[in-house]
Amino acid sequence: GAPVSADISTLEVGQRLVLEWRGQPIWIVRRSPEILQALPTLDDQLRDPMSENPEQQPEYVLEGDAHLRSIKPEVSVLVGLCTHLGCSPEMKAEIRPEPFDTNWKGGYFCPCHKSKFDMAGRVYAGVPAPTNLVVPPHHYENDTTLVIG
Ligand code: FES
Repeated sequence: GAPVSADISTLEVGQRLVLEWRGQPIWIVRRSPEILQALPTLDDQLRDPMSENPEQQPEYVLEGDAHLRSIKPEVSVLVGLCTHLGCSPEMKAEIRPEPFDTNWKGGYFCPCHKSKFDMAGRVYAGVPAPTNLVVPPHHYENDTTLVIG
């Protein structure tokens, strides 16, 4: 499929933009400073905290802080399909104790079989999904234009 581009200039903190690329939903999410701070603290609860499975993301998203899995720290780009059986996870971007976990630091929850991912798409240990969510190939054409593909 052809690349698709998105203007992220109006994307606010906590908001998600959804595009379609190669028949897949692509999520673009602007993360809060609180979320970015929380991500490195979650490592010991995750299956692949440093994203060592090379099939789940392009290498360049690990070059900065690998916990964030992104080019710009605040902007996360993910394929919005659960890596278990492909359901669409729900975004729970707020840091809050309810409804899933007393230490909930924001993330994605798949209602089909209760897999959980953090706000970098990293999968929690002990859930059915085997791998982190996929980060699709992408780059910035300029400061506010993101190109997927
Ligand atoms: Fe998401 Fe099974 S499809 S947990």
